[in-house]
Amino acid sequence: PPLSLSPSLSPYSLPLLLLVKNAMLHGASGIIMFSDPADYCAQGVQPYPDGWNLPGGGAQRGNVLNLNGAGDPLTPGYPAKEYTYRYNLEEGVGLPKIPVHPIGYHDAIQLLKNMGGDIPPNNWKGALNVSYRIGPGFTDSFSTQKVRMNIHTNNQVTRIYNVIGRLRGAVEPDRYVILGGHRDAWVFGGIDPVSGAAVVHESVRSAGKLLRKGWRPRRTIVFASWDAEEFGLLGSTEWAEVLHTLLLQERAVAYINADSAIEGMYTLRIDCTPSLHTLVYDITKQVSSPEEGEEGLSLYESWHKRDNWTDDRDAPRISKLGSGSDFEAYFIRLGIAAGRARYTKNRKTERYSSYPVYHSVYETFELVERFYDPSFQKLRAVAQVRGGLIFLLADSQLLPLDASQYAGSLTKYAHTIAQLGQKHTDSLVKYGVSFDSLFSAVENFTVAARDFHERLNTLDRTDPIQVRMVNDQLMYLERAFVDPLGLPGRPFYRHVIFAPSSHNKYAGESFPGIYDALFDIERTANPKQMWDEVKRQISIAAFTVHAAAMTLTPPA
Ligand SMILES: *[C@@H]1O[C@H](CO)[C@@H](O)[C@H](O)[C@H]1NC(C)=O
Ligand SMILES: *[C@@H]1O[C@H](CO)[C@@H](O)[C@H](O)[C@H]1NC(C)=O
Ligand SMILES: *[C@@H]1O[C@H](CO)[C@@H](O)[C@H](O)[C@H]1NC(C)=O
Ligand SMILES: [Zn+2]
Repeated sequence: PPLSLSPSLSPYSLPLLLLVKNAMLHGASGIIMFSDPADYCAQGVQPYPDGWNLPGGGAQRGNVLNLNGAGDPLTPGYPAKEYTYRYNLEEGVGLPKIPVHPIGYHDAIQLLKNMGGDIPPNNWKGALNVSYRIGPGFTDSFSTQKVRMNIHTNNQVTRIYNVIGRLRGAVEPDRYVILGGHRDAWVFGGIDPVSGAAVVHESVRSAGKLLRKGWRPRRTIVFASWDAEEFGLLGSTEWAEVLHTLLLQERAVAYINADSAIEGMYTLRIDCTPSLHTLVYDITKQVSSPEEGEEGLSLYESWHKRDNWTDDRDAPRISKLGSGSDFEAYFIRLGIAAGRARYTKNRKTERYSSYPVYHSVYETFELVERFYDPSFQKLRAVAQVRGGLIFLLADSQLLPLDASQYAGSLTKYAHTIAQLGQKHTDSLVKYGVSFDSLFSAVENFTVAARDFHERLNTLDRTDPIQVRMVNDQLMYLERAFVDPLGLPGRPFYRHVIFAPSSHNKYAGESFPGIYDALFDIERTANPKQMWDEVKRQISIAAFTVHAAAMTLTPPA
């Protein structure tokens, strides 16, 4: 069949993977992708090298695998050792079945300007001076023209290298705090990943300085430089799978991700598990604002005035973890408390996706030095947040994890998902669907968390066994949200509270099992079956939250 070009979807373009998945579902035989200036150019900014917008020749690379957390497509669930059984290519997880190729918008115009077919809805149109007709085929006088895709690409099994450094804990060497970020880049990697890899290196250097002064952390710190992140989070996922699954399940306290430290020039952005909110606020109050003219202000104050959380509290916004970087296997598969920090754009006004030259050949060191962070103060502030998290998680006597914040977030998510359900009042009645058990579980969790933190106030901190007992409860709290069976059709997404959205892998979804069951439910052919699935998912969520609450209760 003739080719259709797929204009990226405004306002936020979807990850490449989703474009490919949708195009395949609709019978495309090949995909030529381009980055539209509507999504990849900011108003009033010049294309690189005069500014930081994407030039017309810029193509965004990116993997289009549909892995859902599997890691190496040929060894899902198991480490890719020499002896590991490998599926053949046809059986590999998530490999696209059609050719896909990215081009720049200057080339795309040549194909788009003569496109035939229907005019698309307005919100499908980009910023090029073409009609954005959706095909198939070209207009009358060009109707005999064809596009030939001549793609040279090869799949191969090859060796990758993770580099791991360990700093043995002085008191609890069997408790691990991990700082991990990837080292591989699509091209020069000026932002992604080097601005993040530099943070890992600087943290290692700082730890080295402290070590020379005689310091040693209470718990073990693991520094990880992952390979093959861009090929589907392969290095980090395989390392999680190598014997470490069991070790990490038993011993990992937290995982802090260190991918790109910057994606904009506006303010701080934090995505983390709810139990880390309090620690993030504490640390950012101790870091100085990197903004010019804000001498004397903390990072917290600078962040607060730029990205106020108007929802439910007077504090800067913290978001859910989605995916698209190396924390995925640690957080979503293994249930290890996780977080990430970076400098970001103004998400209210800057509507382009990621940053304009993301994953293109124009992501250079010069781009960062000339436009994003000439004084490197922003990168330093991000390094201080990531380093501060690692330092305090590894060295505090009591783990700085907050179960009450988890309770607050669960309450919010339960209301959000119940509201989504309440859009179908008639069906809720007809099929006997209720969210009561979920609210009951969240209430039980809230009480258990409050009692737990009250008991901490009177804890005998001179008794190492008592300290270790409550620390274990805090460490294993995140693990309690893991369902060993995973989400429907996504066995490696096992966190009942959080999963990458099925509809945008960079975004996070709360109560994903219920959310996915409710998605498009009014268009389902068999509503009884779908509402049964909603009921099943509500019961799984309620059971899991209640069971997690139980882990916070006193031992006897
Ligand atoms: C847009 O394209 C049309 C038709 O090719 C041309 O006449 C017009 O000058 C173009 N507008 C701009 C702003 O380039
Ligand atoms: C944040 O928003 C709240 C509610 O709108 C307001 O009371 C508070 O002053 C704001 N804080 C900052 C630092 O802007
Ligand atoms: C919440 O706790 C109460 C009292 O222990 C219990 O009866 C109820 O079943 C719990 N809720 C859930 C969802 O387990
Ligand atoms: Zn990256």
